[in-house]
Amino acid sequence: MVKRPINIALIGYQFMGKAHSNAYRQVTRFFDLDVEPVMKVLVGRNEQKVKEAAAKYGWQEYATRWEDVIARPDIDLVDIATPGNQHAPMSIAALNAGKNVLCEKPLANTLSEAREMITAAEKSGRIHAICHNYRKAPAIALAKQMIEQGRLGQIYHFRGTYLQDWIVDPEFPLVWRLDKSVAGSGSHGDLNAHLIDTARFLVGEISSVTGMMETFIKQRPILAEVDDRLGGRAGTEKGEVTVDDAALFLARFDGGALGTFEATRFALGRKNYNRFEINGSKGSLVFNLERMNELEVYLQDDEPQIRGFRVVQTTDSVHPYAGAWWPVAHIIGYEHTFVHLVKDLLDAIAAGKPASPSFLDGYRNQAVLDAAERSSASGQWERPLY
Ligand SMILES: NC(=O)c1ccc[n+]([C@@H]2O[C@H](COP(=O)([O-])OP(=O)(O)OC[C@H]3O[C@@H](n4cnc5c(N)ncnc54)[C@H](O)[C@@H]3O)[C@@H](O)[C@H]2O)c1
Repeated sequence: MVKRPINIALIGYQFMGKAHSNAYRQVTRFFDLDVEPVMKVLVGRNEQKVKEAAAKYGWQEYATRWEDVIARPDIDLVDIATPGNQHAPMSIAALNAGKNVLCEKPLANTLSEAREMITAAEKSGRIHAICHNYRKAPAIALAKQMIEQGRLGQIYHFRGTYLQDWIVDPEFPLVWRLDKSVAGSGSHGDLNAHLIDTARFLVGEISSVTGMMETFIKQRPILAEVDDRLGGRAGTEKGEVTVDDAALFLARFDGGALGTFEATRFALGRKNYNRFEINGSKGSLVFNLERMNELEVYLQDDEPQIRGFRVVQTTDSVHPYAGAWWPVAHIIGYEHTFVHLVKDLLDAIAAGKPASPSFLDGYRNQAVLDAAERSSASGQWERPLY
């Protein structure tokens, strides 16, 4: 049977561009889909570099103007893997042109942009998705199943930390992630956005927050030359850091649970420590991305003599997504979460059903980010303006 082709245009070819390209390349080799993803065109501003990236990652064509690509009638899905300041203009143009859209997180740089994006998405009637890929790690998907089955009982606590250390050196240059006009915020939109998505996915909506944000290093060398590992070569002149280095907040959930969220790029020794612990009336769960195949499970109903945290290898065929990969305990990695996200998105497009997570998840996430940022300025508890 010939499957319906889904012609994809991807904008951006560095970190996320590489991860998304890999996902489209791998997905049909491990999952049976009802549609055929076609890696049609890769878009970037530098012609030589985008040409090389398209050849390396397996795209049929390359282009330098995203506006022209979005206008092409043969494109079905536009994938946006550019910094935050491009998410709203690119997504809205693509949705208005009748395209399905996958956008990287955070959805936008401001809540008002996010509102425009969800309005355009709902008006378009197209499939819209946000790339909160950690939901698609088998261990987090298993946590979701366990909570839905009531295995944890009533949820009391969500304790999330997302710790990195890549900008502790004051001589680390001013890359775009440290520029508010491009990134929207620092550790907050970059790392707390992931924690918020996990918390909303597993525990539910957040009703109020109080937080604080800090920029420890206020000036840094201007970037002289960018590299492809999040950094670059520092120049001699200095410029202002306009985003937070660390962002922490407390939260109350609609269902009565309490949450703590800590995002920082100043936790020396912690590289990509995206960890959460959930405590309920019947048990607890712990996940840490640095050991992403494992879910720690504690169940109060276990026999008292052997009660304790157990480490579940979420790599068996009974675990979400895992059956498509390798025999049990032949572990998977970071890039697989993107393959799973793209699989679910292509399934949604094939079925004409909403994707999950969608722009609505991105919008609600942005409302929490916005409330925590307002609270950091006001010193008060603030409500997300959903
Ligand atoms: N889901 C995740 O786990 C995850 C991880 C890292 C980054 N991200 C998000 O992905 C997005 C991109 O981050 P990244 O790490 O890939 O950044 P990056 O700097 O590695 O790549 C950004 C790409 O966008 C391109 N670009 C920028 N402006 C453009 C424009 N006007 N037109 C065309 N191309 C343009 C750049 O040339 C580059 O190819 C950000 O929103 C970031 O928050 C998500």
